[in-house]
Amino acid sequence: MQLEDVLKDVLVDVADHIGEGKVANYIPALAKIDPRKFGMAVVTVDGDIHVTGDAEEAFSIQSISKVFTLTLALGRVGEGLWKRVGREPSGTPFNSIVQLEQEQGIPRNPFINAGAIVVADTLLSGHQPRETLGEILSFMRYLTDDDTIIIDAEVARSEQQTGFRNAALANYMHAFSNIHNPVEKTLGVYFHQCALSMNCVQLAKAGLFLANRGLLTRGGRSVVSWERARRINALMLTCGHYDASGDFAFRVGLPGKSGVGGGILAIAPGKAAIAVWSPGLNANGNSATGTKALESLARRTGWSIFG
Ligand code: DON
Repeated sequence: MQLEDVLKDVLVDVADHIGEGKVANYIPALAKIDPRKFGMAVVTVDGDIHVTGDAEEAFSIQSISKVFTLTLALGRVGEGLWKRVGREPSGTPFNSIVQLEQEQGIPRNPFINAGAIVVADTLLSGHQPRETLGEILSFMRYLTDDDTIIIDAEVARSEQQTGFRNAALANYMHAFSNIHNPVEKTLGVYFHQCALSMNCVQLAKAGLFLANRGLLTRGGRSVVSWERARRINALMLTCGHYDASGDFAFRVGLPGKSGVGGGILAIAPGKAAIAVWSPGLNANGNSATGTKALESLARRTGWSIFG
C-alpha cells in the first residue's frame, strides 16, 4: 500500500463534500475562515510524512489542544487527576452544563469543555498563566521539533470576549471547589491553549507519540509510558467527539479528537498519526468533511483498532 496513492484517493472521495458544514461562528475570529479549505497529513511511526491539500496551512486547533494538556496534567499530578475529572463519555455536547450539578462539579471527562477547564486549572496551580502557556507551547514545539508554532492572540481574545458559557462552567465548578485558581486566570489559560495555531503536518507529528507506544519516534525518547499512551487513546475513542464519539468509532474505528476549528487528530496505534482539517462542522460541532476523509482513509488502509 502506497500512502501517497491512498491520500490521492481520499481527496477524490471527499472532493464533492469540500465546503460542507457550518464554520464555527460563536468565536468571531473563526467565522471568517474559508470553508473550502481541506488538508490532511499522515505521519507514520517510521517518520514518513504524506500530505494532501492545505496540509501546511495553520488553523486553530481548539479542542484538539485538550489531548496535549491532558498529557501534561497527567505528568504533573498523575492519577490524582481522576479525583477532579471523570473518564466516562458524557453523551452531551462539548459545552454542556447539565451534568455538573448532579455530579457535584466533577466533569464527566477531560475532553468536554468543563473537564478541559479543570485540566487547565491543574496546570496553572503554582504558576502564573504566562508560565503555564509557555509550558504548553514548549511541549508542542518539543513534540513537533518545530519552534514556529504559536498561539494566535486574536483568536484567544475573540473567545475571551464571547466565552460566556465557558465562564459559566468555570464559575459553577469553582462553587464546588473544583477550580482552585481565580476563574479568569484559569479561563485565560484555557482560551489560549485552544488558540494554538498549527497545520496538519505539525499536528500529526505532535500526536505521533500516541501511535508509537508513548515514544517520540520509533526507538526514540519517551514522552509518556506505553500504558499512558494507550489510556489517552482510550479516552480519545470514547470521549474525543463528545456526543458523536460512538458514531466516530463506528465510522472511522480509530481514537480521534476534534476541534471547532475543523481539525481532527486521529491515531492508528502502531501505524501513524493523522491530522485532517476542513472548517465546516456537522451538528455536533465536529468537522463534517474531515470525518468523511478519515472514514475513507481508514477503509482504504484497513486501519482500525477493532480488527
Ligand atoms: O471552548 C470552546 O468552546 C472552544 N475553545 C473549543 C471547543 C471545541 O473545539 C469543541 N470541539 N469540537
